[in-house]
Amino acid sequence: MDYKKYIAEKLNLKELTAEEVCSYLEIPPENDMGDYALPCFRLSKILRRPPVKIAQDLAASFNCDEIISECSAVNGYLNFKVNRKGFAGTLLNKILEENENYGSSDCGKGKTVCIDYSSINIAKPFHIGHLSTTVIGGALCKIFRFLGYKVVGINHLGDYGTQFGKLIVAFKKWSSVEAVEKDRLKELTRIYVKFHEEAEKDPSLDDLAREYFRLIENGDEESNRLFNLFKKITLEEVEKIYKMLHVTFDSYAGESFYNDKMQPIVDELKEKGLLKISDGASVVDLEPYGMPPCLILKSDGSTLYATRDIAAAVYRKNTYDFYKCLYVVAYQQNLHFKQIFKVLELMGKEWAKDLVHVAYGMVSLEDGAMSTRKGKVVLLEDVINKTIEKALAVIEEKNPSLPDKENTARAVGTGAVIFGALCNNKIKDIVFSYDRVLNFDGETCPYVQYTVARCNSVIAKCEKAEFTGEVPEIGAEEYAVIAELGKFGDVVKAAAEKYEPSYITRYALDLASAFNKFYIACKIAVEDDMLRAFRLAIVKSVKITLTNALTLLGIETVEQM
Ligand code: ARG
Repeated sequence: MDYKKYIAEKLNLKELTAEEVCSYLEIPPENDMGDYALPCFRLSKILRRPPVKIAQDLAASFNCDEIISECSAVNGYLNFKVNRKGFAGTLLNKILEENENYGSSDCGKGKTVCIDYSSINIAKPFHIGHLSTTVIGGALCKIFRFLGYKVVGINHLGDYGTQFGKLIVAFKKWSSVEAVEKDRLKELTRIYVKFHEEAEKDPSLDDLAREYFRLIENGDEESNRLFNLFKKITLEEVEKIYKMLHVTFDSYAGESFYNDKMQPIVDELKEKGLLKISDGASVVDLEPYGMPPCLILKSDGSTLYATRDIAAAVYRKNTYDFYKCLYVVAYQQNLHFKQIFKVLELMGKEWAKDLVHVAYGMVSLEDGAMSTRKGKVVLLEDVINKTIEKALAVIEEKNPSLPDKENTARAVGTGAVIFGALCNNKIKDIVFSYDRVLNFDGETCPYVQYTVARCNSVIAKCEKAEFTGEVPEIGAEEYAVIAELGKFGDVVKAAAEKYEPSYITRYALDLASAFNKFYIACKIAVEDDMLRAFRLAIVKSVKITLTNALTLLGIETVEQM
């Protein structure tokens, strides 16, 4: 039963289609106000009446029935109450039947979304600063797929620049293939840091590095072999972490992939009269738009980060014909994206409006700053492993007889890190705290996972009873859970629309909390078959919905905890 559709069709407004009315219908935050509401403010212009009057007129002419039991006008809102028994029966049946697909939709069918995320730099450690882009981007990929979109996850690798010349110099002077194979990113970081220390004393090293960078660009065999070794090592290392976080990519086309795709862009910019020479460099003047110029070519003719991003956007449009192309990148790059989007618009690419910078805030640990050059970084792998260790300690203390403790600790620890990063509005800076993300009673992943485990244990212990759709008188705690369950599909859509996975973390917390109140208030293993079947159906539906919510975030559930 699609209640929104039902209400929209029943309202039967001449001036609006049922789809339009559907898109206006909201679920009010408090369910004593009603189960659905139509805000009449936006209708005011179309219907040429004040919102309050519209709501009153519509309420007066609406005939309630077995499905919609009440319709009333309150301050410009038209509130509907559904027949709760009918609503509960249909919803629970739907959830039990759709199971892992509950909450999904095909509203994105035929549309492709490109998501540029994680986008790490080769030979650099994968540190806590990469957590947000990786888990926000990973969640958005899953959310859009769940809504029927085709998703292309892109890791726009930072694999171009003079730093690779520096690495080759450092490698030849102070390292070996064996050392790099053995100590991996640690070794690459070690020699990179050493290079900067040594180059301060001997600036000729910088010239040598530029020389080697040019060799890479010109296809020199040895330099490219070393560069590819660095690339291979980096990707192997980060792949381990991607596995833990359940993120995957469809493309690893990084900056160097666009080496041969920039000339046509430069030509087009010239042709369209957009390039200006400024101090020998070629730039696009963005002064009329209140921005500094966008650098396209340095005075020596070499290209820049922006040039590559412009070429990448054109390539992605041509290759994937995207409906939207998202860039999940920290807000420090706000200006960069505003500039390249503007340049593409000036080039006449009407699709520039479909490029979206999904900006997010910084993550730091409680003890302060990091810098790759000085080698002071907090590795993401260490943070995840430490959280897993701490989770294991909590489990040892709270439930020492739990089978498969290691695996549970892994799912709980990794989940805590992901959920912790997705818990707040993405633009907020966050200070990561082990104790906070692992607080079993807080607004955390362990709390949600624990709720799922609690559902499992109820389902396992309670004598079976088939839910037929028959529903008894519904109590407040029961209805609170049911109302929450019914919102999931809309929450997933809103999360996609606002590029905000935190809608899903928040939702999971609300649903878990409603469930736990219900669990305290209502006995589930009751004698009465119909009542037991109904309550068990609620428990199973909560388990399904929380599992689906966590899965969209890349988080596993556990059987027991
Ligand atoms: N590698 C870049 C960095 O670490 C992020 C790249 C983001 N994606 C892009 N298309 N510019 O800052």
